[in-house]
Amino acid sequence: MNLLHVDASILGPYSITREVSAAIVARLAGNSGQNKVIYRDLAKDSPPHLTLASLPTDHPRASLAGPLDAAAQLVRDESQRMLEEFLAADVVVIGAPMYNFSLPSQLKAWIDRIAVPGKTFRYGPGGVEGLAGGKRLIVALARGGVYGPGAPAASAEHVQSYLRAIFGFLGITDPEFVLVEGIAAGDEVRTAAIAAAHDAVGRLAA
Ligand SMILES: Cc1cc2nc3c(=O)[nH]c(=O)nc-3n(C[C@H](O)[C@H](O)[C@H](O)COP(=O)(O)O)c2cc1C
Repeated sequence: MNLLHVDASILGPYSITREVSAAIVARLAGNSGQNKVIYRDLAKDSPPHLTLASLPTDHPRASLAGPLDAAAQLVRDESQRMLEEFLAADVVVIGAPMYNFSLPSQLKAWIDRIAVPGKTFRYGPGGVEGLAGGKRLIVALARGGVYGPGAPAASAEHVQSYLRAIFGFLGITDPEFVLVEGIAAGDEVRTAAIAAAHDAVGRLAA
């Protein structure tokens, strides 16, 4: 099994999504030498905002940038590597914090590398077709407030809904989420929410 593990939290050792995404990977990959795990820390090695020059090589619009200098080519090569890592993965585990009601811009920049016409989706006579189906996607999602259905802030939730939309577009229609929410309410709630998330990880199909 090829597992791609992506973290995006800026909080380093204080991050909840990093803790939970690592627990998910440990549950799925274990110590088996059968599994190959690729790790991307998007806070440490952040992809730049998407530009024409930094589109992955496989993107149909990439050539519009014309010849690239050596530095720009390295950035493009890294974009292509991100796409290839995603394409090769059987399982994708993402640590996704909510920042300002949305996802970290580093995570969005990574998604900008993997949404590539002809590779991960295409348009046909029947409309859009996701080409990345068949992968398992598990997201560790943490947020300070509470945004579930019926919550007063539900309409401000743009992480889970966005990830469902974009990965559904790419063909992954059944993402699994391990939620840690309401942690801004205090230490007791935070501790209980993290413990509940670890329980949920323990119930994931291994
Ligand atoms: C810069 C920043 C912005 C945040 N914005 C929100 C927000 O808009 N809504 C919310 O519920 N929590 C927000 N939070 C709380 C985080 O979602 C929470 O701390 C969560 O644990 C982040 O995941 P992490 O610990 O892996 O970084 C924010 C935290 C930070 C550091």
